[in-house]
Amino acid sequence: MRRLRVRPASRLAGRLRVPGDKSISHRAVILGGIAAGESSIRGFLTGDDCLRTARAMQALGVPIDGLPGASLRVHGVGLRGLRKPKHPLDMGNSGTGMRLLIGLMAGQGFEATVTGDESLSRRPMDRIAVPLEQMGARVIGRGDQVLPPVTVRGGPLRGVTYRSPMASAQVKSAILLAGLNAEGQTTVIEPARSRDHTERMLQAMGADLQVDDLAVTLTPGPPLAAQDVTVPADFSSAACFLVASLLVPAADVLLEDVLLNPTRAALLECLQAMGAEVNVLGRREVAGEPVGNLSARPDGLLCSEVGGEMIPRLIDEVPLLAVVATQAEGKTAIRDASELRVKESDRLAAIAHTLTAMGARVQELADGLDIVGPTTLHGAAVSSHGDHRIAMAAAVAGLVAEGETVIEDTECVDTSVPGFVESLRALGADCVEEEH
Ligand code: S3P
Repeated sequence: MRRLRVRPASRLAGRLRVPGDKSISHRAVILGGIAAGESSIRGFLTGDDCLRTARAMQALGVPIDGLPGASLRVHGVGLRGLRKPKHPLDMGNSGTGMRLLIGLMAGQGFEATVTGDESLSRRPMDRIAVPLEQMGARVIGRGDQVLPPVTVRGGPLRGVTYRSPMASAQVKSAILLAGLNAEGQTTVIEPARSRDHTERMLQAMGADLQVDDLAVTLTPGPPLAAQDVTVPADFSSAACFLVASLLVPAADVLLEDVLLNPTRAALLECLQAMGAEVNVLGRREVAGEPVGNLSARPDGLLCSEVGGEMIPRLIDEVPLLAVVATQAEGKTAIRDASELRVKESDRLAAIAHTLTAMGARVQELADGLDIVGPTTLHGAAVSSHGDHRIAMAAAVAGLVAEGETVIEDTECVDTSVPGFVESLRALGADCVEEEH
């Protein structure tokens, strides 16, 4: 087991390129695997989640060179070239990996099983089972929520029009991956826009895909052209350091090559609304995605109201936003965020519990949080709740708390940000990780 000790920081400075984006890494290796020809991926995230997806693709018959490194060559087998894996595919902690692969396998002609760790085994798969069964696949799991392990019986599929009850890129992507091998068009309509990396990558690979406001329509047919992908630095990982640099008194941190896709980067809008000065330098496009260098300065942080269509665009940053809110003047109200209850942990409960233990004034609601600031946080013994985003948000809070913060069970951080502690230390933070 690992434990992270964090002490208050008076200064953070330096340039940092956080590891590759998790969402794009999953998609690059999955879509590269069913492309016609050879793709190269540079800057692949070598966190456990994406490595599991890459190994699952190997088990499905896709030759991949370079694992477990960040530079991969993927020898695509084509849209219908996957083969039945010899063993169940163990997706570890990765909800994205599991949902995308279930969608992918729904359109293949074999049966396969996916499993996961304790946390993933509690996450609902009915949200993808319902549309995939409408398309003609069988998706079998435990109980009404279709909990993992899940067995997928792929079959001939027909395209559907599916109105998703939640804005979820995992749901949308699973359906689109199935739609690639369906008979006829598949349309997914979301209640609000979720991250659009699948759409961008499919279009770049030559798929016939139209986006019309909240509706995405895929017409199957053309093979996917292999492409070379350079994965930008992960926005959600960069956000930890950005928020730390906003809260630590003397901070001068530049985050390089950060993904700035508008369906991901709403935290920036939110921080600006709270009074932060956010600077983006060198805007450019990498692999069909907007990228830039990022820095931020505080300017008297104020409370904010966050909800509605903004939530899916900052879904993974809500724990960090809660940390910012503890240092902002007034009551920050986060609403419409009940999806956080079915992530790697119940993130509303976990962050409320963590920040309350550190002296913050937080009220947990069914779909959000009320946080009154500013509060002087104090170090406390807290748990990651087995969730990388909670562990990292607690570490950021620890940088501005008085005394020492001790976070238990921090190995989960490796699922998304390998080298997190080393990066904090390189910027001057006083933190150590120990085995026990
Ligand atoms: C992801 C989508 C989000 C996000 C997750 C990654 C993706 O989940 O929370 O970390 O890569 O598609 P939902 O789409 O279920 O909200």
